[in-house]
Amino acid sequence: MPSLSSPTYLITGGCGFIGSNFTLMARQQNWSRIINLDAITYAANPANLSALANDEDYVFVKGSIGDRHLVEQLFEKYKPDGIINFAAESHVDRSILHPDSFINTNILGTHNLLEETLNYWNNIDSSKQKEFRFLHVSTDEVYGSLDANDPPFEETTPYDPRSPYSASKAASDHLVNAYHHTYGLPSLITNCSNNYGPYQFPEKLIPLIILNCLNLKPLPIYGDGQNIRDWLYVEDHCQGIYNVMTNANIGETYNIGGQTERTNIEVVHTICNILDELKPKPDFSYSSLITFVKDRLGHDRRYAINCNKIKKDLNWQAQESFPTGIRKTIQWYLEHPTWIEQVCSGEYQNWIQTNYKKSEGSIN
Ligand code: DAU
Repeated sequence: MPSLSSPTYLITGGCGFIGSNFTLMARQQNWSRIINLDAITYAANPANLSALANDEDYVFVKGSIGDRHLVEQLFEKYKPDGIINFAAESHVDRSILHPDSFINTNILGTHNLLEETLNYWNNIDSSKQKEFRFLHVSTDEVYGSLDANDPPFEETTPYDPRSPYSASKAASDHLVNAYHHTYGLPSLITNCSNNYGPYQFPEKLIPLIILNCLNLKPLPIYGDGQNIRDWLYVEDHCQGIYNVMTNANIGETYNIGGQTERTNIEVVHTICNILDELKPKPDFSYSSLITFVKDRLGHDRRYAINCNKIKKDLNWQAQESFPTGIRKTIQWYLEHPTWIEQVCSGEYQNWIQTNYKKSEGSIN
């Protein structure tokens, strides 16, 4: 029998990277019962949650946030106490090549979800209405790009998205705020910095570099490698989302960041050094695979997050430092060759061919 004591959360995109980590933590720590709606696009993998196969408080439903009828049925059947919207197209390079799916999922999909949530919320009893929350997981990329000496992004930094991906996330954030201010929907938004950790699809920098090292393939560094990102261990992010979901005031936005700024070339050297130690090869360093390639179009120079607000209001603090988090992450990839094999099938190979063979400076 499902437990009656903990709340029920409908989460979207629970088979993706951040959604999987959140779902596993939510079940391990009994934060909530989870109904996971996931469309199983290329970056999702239900096997991430195979540990929950016999968990009666975990339900998987295959489907899209754009499917109004399905979302309505889920509300009716499971009567959730809250929603966390992880579902999104999230890879900047893909948004540059094919923006359409970003507009569909991130903007139209979020809008569908908001509409159905509002219908549901308007019709539940007032005590349940008071407790209900719609939490939208977003990104620091909506704030634009920083120069070297700019202060980190704050919750009040004006939006200035610069890629089709970040523009679509900015639009979805605006819609969430609009539903709060116009219709009273009890919403929350979190804007995170770059996540890393177990289950990340190897199109993003860190897992891509780990896998290319393991396969002795070139390590592609866009431009001069001096772009800076602020790295956040995924479990710290999930804990932050839970704190916001359970303790924040309605209508608030919280930035969640790792306060770990690194240039891309530093990150890649760190991975190479750890692999030199954990998986040594005679007379060889993985850093010899580093290859500078043509820069990403419109490449944002630097992201950094000021997360004083979540620390102060909600007593959140990242537990993982970059040196410990990156080592754990590399170890996880070394220990999961079957997962890697599964996700690196056909579609992934097509993407690698398309993205890294496009022009001069290509690595293949
Ligand atoms: O800031 C949060 C955002 O971080 C998330 O909202 C996005 O969903 C997520 O994809 C990420 O965006 P980035 O574009 O920063 O992540 P990505 O891992 O694609 O790239 C990190 C940096 O590494 C970026 O400066 C581009 C560079 N890069 C990336 C790849 C894939 C390379 O130099 N070579 C590569 O092959």
